[in-house]
Amino acid sequence: MARFTLPRDLYHGKGALETLKTLKGKKAVVVVGGGAMKRNGFLQKAEDYLKEAGMEVMLIEGVEPDPSVTTVMNGAAKMLEFEPDWIVAMGGGSPIDAAKAMWIKYEYPDCTFEDMCKIFGIPELRKKAHFCAIPSTSGTATEVTAFSVITDYDKGIKYPLADFEITPDVAIVDPELAETMPQKLVAHTGMDAMTHAIEAYVSTANNDYTDPLAIHAIEMIMKELIPSYNGDMDARAKMHNAQCLAGMSFSNALLGIVHSMAHKTGAIFQDYGAHIIHGAANAMYLPKVIAFNAKDETAKKRYGVIADYMGLGGANDEEKVALLIQYLRKMNDDLNIPQCIKNYGADSYPCEQGFVPEEVFLERLPSIAKEAIGDACTGSNPRTPSQEEMEKLLKCCYYDLEVDF
Ligand SMILES: NC(=O)c1ccc[n+]([C@@H]2O[C@H](COP(=O)([O-])OP(=O)(O)OC[C@H]3O[C@@H](n4cnc5c(N)ncnc54)[C@H](O)[C@@H]3O)[C@@H](O)[C@H]2O)c1
Ligand SMILES: [Zn+2]
Repeated sequence: MARFTLPRDLYHGKGALETLKTLKGKKAVVVVGGGAMKRNGFLQKAEDYLKEAGMEVMLIEGVEPDPSVTTVMNGAAKMLEFEPDWIVAMGGGSPIDAAKAMWIKYEYPDCTFEDMCKIFGIPELRKKAHFCAIPSTSGTATEVTAFSVITDYDKGIKYPLADFEITPDVAIVDPELAETMPQKLVAHTGMDAMTHAIEAYVSTANNDYTDPLAIHAIEMIMKELIPSYNGDMDARAKMHNAQCLAGMSFSNALLGIVHSMAHKTGAIFQDYGAHIIHGAANAMYLPKVIAFNAKDETAKKRYGVIADYMGLGGANDEEKVALLIQYLRKMNDDLNIPQCIKNYGADSYPCEQGFVPEEVFLERLPSIAKEAIGDACTGSNPRTPSQEEMEKLLKCCYYDLEVDF
């Protein structure tokens, strides 16, 4: 038996933000990030709509990119004081994910971060509040997923929280919010969405309900991401839908080791001055992981189907896999994303020597590999890598080497 869960309601299209007027409740807390929503007037609009719905509104502002455990705990404390019956999270994946974790702590004040990390072990929510998510980036799809990613900065590690309990009740997918994204954010979040769709399609938990969503998302992202990156706002609106479809798929089909590796490399080199941004990490690792997973017959066939839907040609599955890898690498080039960690600059752009020194990477490699194998996303990957294989794979991601094992 398997379960397929999505938000109860999804409002989409330009102006969908106005739906906030129809929420029923007394008090809403609005959780936002660093200021993009405020600067662009969306925060004010949201507040006004909620007040029109008769609600008292409190703001939790300033959730940082890759939110920390501390941010979650502080936000939950504010919620415990205010006692909202709606949590409205608006912005990129970071504030929405942080709000999901605050929600757990608000409903269960004794719950520790370790408790939250138990996969599919979150207690029943919605006793105090319902959750509405409004994305302003086109990638994570956290507005429809059962996941939240929180970073433990003491360890430099990202932990995915996973349970259908944290699937939002209402998602508002309004493309106007995504129009202000700078190019780099379009690139990174777009490749995050592409990775979600491809990993979901080859995941061992794929099924008849998740496959069409993944395939349609892949076709749309292939067509729309580069035009969106180049400023075409119709393509930007399509991408907002496409990433959401990818999310509906992976929330129910789960992901694979591209995400395991991205989670465990994202913040681990922060002492050298930067993060490897989630979407960029995925974009660099995805072609390597496809080559690795394609040694599994079922996965190889499934990559072949993806290549067919993308119209890439190829006479057999080997050729199709090679063409898929080639296509994704070309997308990285077009989006100004490096192909490997060695060439990943502190500003995320390609450069000769990136911000992660070779000796530091090699020294931390065994523990990164161990952590990646233990990540929640590894369980549904078509191949289970050994410690040695994971280290080799990560080395290929550092040096941009071909994967032949
Ligand atoms: N929950 C999930 O299912 C899931 C899936 C994938 C990734 N994630 C996590 O989500 C986080 C990344 O989220 P993200 O990629 O959406 O970025 P983000 O939320 O970290 O935002 C990145 C930056 O973009 C700015 N920004 C957001 N929207 C904007 C807009 N419309 N215009 C201008 N600036 C804008 C933010 O202020 C921030 O500075 C990571 O922590 C990642 O691990 C979660
Ligand atoms: Zn992702």
